[in-house]
Amino acid sequence: MKPLIIALALMLALPAPAYAGPRQPRDLRELAHQHGIRIGTAVDIAALRDEADYRKVLNHQFNHVTAENAMKWESVEPERGAYTWADADALVHNAHRNRQRVRGHTLVWHNQLPAWLTEGVADGSITPAELKRILRDHITTQVRRYKGKIRAWDVVNEVVEEDGSLRQNIWLTNLGPGYIADAFRWAHRADPHAKLFINDYNIEWNTPKIETTLSLVKDLQARGVPIHGVGFQGHLGIQYDYPGDWANVMRRFADLGLEIAVTELDVRMVLPVTPEKLATQADYYRRALTDCLSVEACKEFTVWGFTDRHSWVPGWFDGEGAACLLDENLAPKPAYRALLGVRAR
Ligand code: G3I
Repeated sequence: MKPLIIALALMLALPAPAYAGPRQPRDLRELAHQHGIRIGTAVDIAALRDEADYRKVLNHQFNHVTAENAMKWESVEPERGAYTWADADALVHNAHRNRQRVRGHTLVWHNQLPAWLTEGVADGSITPAELKRILRDHITTQVRRYKGKIRAWDVVNEVVEEDGSLRQNIWLTNLGPGYIADAFRWAHRADPHAKLFINDYNIEWNTPKIETTLSLVKDLQARGVPIHGVGFQGHLGIQYDYPGDWANVMRRFADLGLEIAVTELDVRMVLPVTPEKLATQADYYRRALTDCLSVEACKEFTVWGFTDRHSWVPGWFDGEGAACLLDENLAPKPAYRALLGVRAR
């Protein structure tokens, strides 16, 4: 008893040590934990299978994952009625074993649709009424398969054009704008606990796209459609200004009661890589995380691949690349260190 009293007396007598704040996190998982968010990455399924070093970094650093391609329609149903779940299952299984939550990407999109579907619509052998049934079955089958295993679904992806009109895709053309509400309702029915998102690019800064997406969300909410979040893809390039109003845009969606997620962040550059470009890139990554953390509703910060070894950028933008946090050898770039230096909110 006595030593305890002495210890207590000493503690009260001694001045409290100056509070230095939490120490710098050692890795992205620790960073995520300190900030109370999830930090995720898109996963290249072939790399996950074949590259031990890739797998090690993925499972060590990230507590959230998105399939880069493995859950898209052409991947899961390349032939009509013949589902190929092996890749998507492998990703979900790996995530579960490594305490990672999963974003399902994506249920309704205009890209990476199987040929049987696009060709059937084009030649009229799939009628609009049948297309609607096909879409309902696709959403129901996929969401049900992963019921309870997917934290959040990108239900509709890229449904607004740059000029703020609804995107002309096979869904709008054949089913009318109601396909969006239907998709959310079907997904909700298949897994009532999954968070359902609308996901898009350039809504970090493009006013017509932002305004239409906000109106769309309000309209869905007014009709009681289950929509829970908005995903900002965040495909940035250092040759363009950083989208300086991004935090405000996030706040406008948060004010509608939505969860906010950065879903596909990468920051590309015109090659060759220089130290100056890497420093600018680091600043863009740092600002993106800071913006997310400045909005209470922003709970997920996902990068579109974590290594320059596997990135969509060089294949899509001639002469550009080096968009990720780690280089081709999985060595951390300044951007990685910049993220670790972002202080708690
Ligand atoms: O599967 C074939 C393979 O059989 C073939 O050998 C190979 C040869 O090029 O192509 C493979 O398909 C590629 C596919 O990725 C899987 O690797 C396609 O050509 C390629 O076009 C496709 O690119 C993907 C792109 O979406 C397609 O739109 C990228 O990997 C993927 O990162 C990208 O992701 C999108 C998000 O889903 C939505 N937001 C934008 C983002 C970047 O475009």
